[in-house]
Amino acid sequence: MLNKGYPTDWLSQLKQRNNIVSIIGKYIHLEKKGSKYWACCPFHNEKTPSFTVSEEDGFFYCFGCKESGDVISFVQKYESCDFTQAVEILAKQANMEIPEFKGEKDVVEKKQTRERLLNLLDSTYKHYMKNLYLPQAKPAQEYIKQRGFTRRELEDFKIGYSLNWNELIEELRRLGYTYKEMLDAGVAQCKNNHYYDVMAERLVFPIFNSFGECVGFSARVLGKTDYAKYKNTAETLVFQKGKVVFGINVVKALKQREGLKSIIIVEGQIDVIAMHRAGFKNTVACMGTALTKENAKEIKKLSPNVILCFDGDEAGIKATTRSIDILKEEGVNALIVPLPDKHDPDEIIKEKGVEFMANLINNAMPVTDYLLSIELNKYDISQADQKGKYTRSALEIISKLDSNSAEDAYLDKVREITTIPIDILRRDLNNIKNKKPINVEKVDTNVLTSRENGNIRAIRFILGSLIFHKAYVNKLIDYNKLLPKYKDIIDLANKNLPISAFYDYFDVDNYPILKDCLGMDFTQYQNNAEQYFNECLWLIANQRLIDEQSELTEKFKTCQDRQERTEIVTKLNALNKAIREKKLEEFYVRDK
Ligand code: UTP
Ligand code: MN
Repeated sequence: MLNKGYPTDWLSQLKQRNNIVSIIGKYIHLEKKGSKYWACCPFHNEKTPSFTVSEEDGFFYCFGCKESGDVISFVQKYESCDFTQAVEILAKQANMEIPEFKGEKDVVEKKQTRERLLNLLDSTYKHYMKNLYLPQAKPAQEYIKQRGFTRRELEDFKIGYSLNWNELIEELRRLGYTYKEMLDAGVAQCKNNHYYDVMAERLVFPIFNSFGECVGFSARVLGKTDYAKYKNTAETLVFQKGKVVFGINVVKALKQREGLKSIIIVEGQIDVIAMHRAGFKNTVACMGTALTKENAKEIKKLSPNVILCFDGDEAGIKATTRSIDILKEEGVNALIVPLPDKHDPDEIIKEKGVEFMANLINNAMPVTDYLLSIELNKYDISQADQKGKYTRSALEIISKLDSNSAEDAYLDKVREITTIPIDILRRDLNNIKNKKPINVEKVDTNVLTSRENGNIRAIRFILGSLIFHKAYVNKLIDYNKLLPKYKDIIDLANKNLPISAFYDYFDVDNYPILKDCLGMDFTQYQNNAEQYFNECLWLIANQRLIDEQSELTEKFKTCQDRQERTEIVTKLNALNKAIREKKLEEFYVRDK
């Protein structure tokens, strides 16, 4: 049996005390229909619900993306954490003491390495914080004053300072960390056998994940240098630049405290702090680059509504248009705040005040308006050829809308701007739309994909039917005899436990056939299920008999023993007869 690191009894108690419907219901809105609860799937982008939760089975399943699991794996997937973290979250909810983790050696080691890394990073940011108030930190203190950070902000965002190249290294040594650990955590680098602090002489912004664990740093130079303005932690076990969102922990806490209508995304961490100061406490940053798919997923978990407020320069506009596509793909609604005069939010607030910024945010533009305004800025439409180019790009943008009324409204705007008659615009728009390949959604009604052979498909249908205790299952057959390779699955299915038990005994995500079985959509078989089941049974048995037949034939060729040869022939005759007459019972019925 799979070693999950905690006693099975304890895990099943944990699951009993964390009702799957109430736990998932805390994250997403569930609606009861029939025996199941339904929602729009949190793991892929959709508008009509195909995500189901079965309370009785302690099990969730999405008909769209086929994601499935028990309450622990839901938390794991939703919170993007590992198994032990999900267990910790649920144990806390249920007020349960967690027993010592006793998993496989490598899992225990990995967990320990990660914990030690996080402890090192925790000590590091706290050390930097302390530094900030020392007399030697004068340059940093002056810089802070000049940028207008308050004591409260420094503490809220745990901002610190690295005094020099080796002071942190010595401190971490004192705390018992090795040089290797410092390298692994990304806080130190080594040159000529000398270890030094990567963030030396910089103002340090720790970056926290949504659990409030410090995973890395971004640090700013104080004065003017030739070095990069910001230095970020290199990729480590716990830090991936494309995945972190600066401020996510603060916004998550805000959501838990008072709810959240939307999330504002800015470019830099200093902008985040300036926005918080101005009262926009729902602001995060995506570390300079345009938002990634991972960022979008992480943000969507907190709110499906986003306001993009990137710098008002060329790079900011590029980042905005790229982010719009990514957000759309992930099903996040976006509004855009275009900032004037190449400014960033920090500068706007400083120069024009909080009111001005609030006004911009309140008047954030719908994506299509924004994209059209960007195009308009590119062209001088008093020139005929440029007007043509603008119109062409504008129609491209409009062609992506998914409602006719929105199309009409924006066509009218383009007409107003260009004075081109509406029927001409409409005809051009239709031409663009007709050229686009029609997006035929591939509906794969059969979970068992067609590229696999019928045999595997049949095996899955049989196993799935056994797992879900379907009434049409032929009780006379010894399924272990028929499918010895899947004895583990068959044995558990025979135990009549709730479906969620499969997640206790197996690493389902790494057991593809089981995962598919657990996610089977039986509705498509309707009244034919029994017939299909028997066909599958026959297919598999037939294949096995044929295999046996050829094995015996091979054996016969080399066999010298007279008596044995006779036995083989008898067996072969029986096999041939069974195959011919489609009689499987003799071979696979249960022993009485
Ligand atoms: P900006 O250059 O816009 O910095 O970079 P900023 O936030 O306005 O900072 P100040 O006001 O000049 O101090 C935005 C973000 O891009 C990343 C950082 O995360 C920064 O906050 N960046 C920028 C880097 O990673 N490296 C750099 O060299 C510059
Ligand atoms: Mn700035």
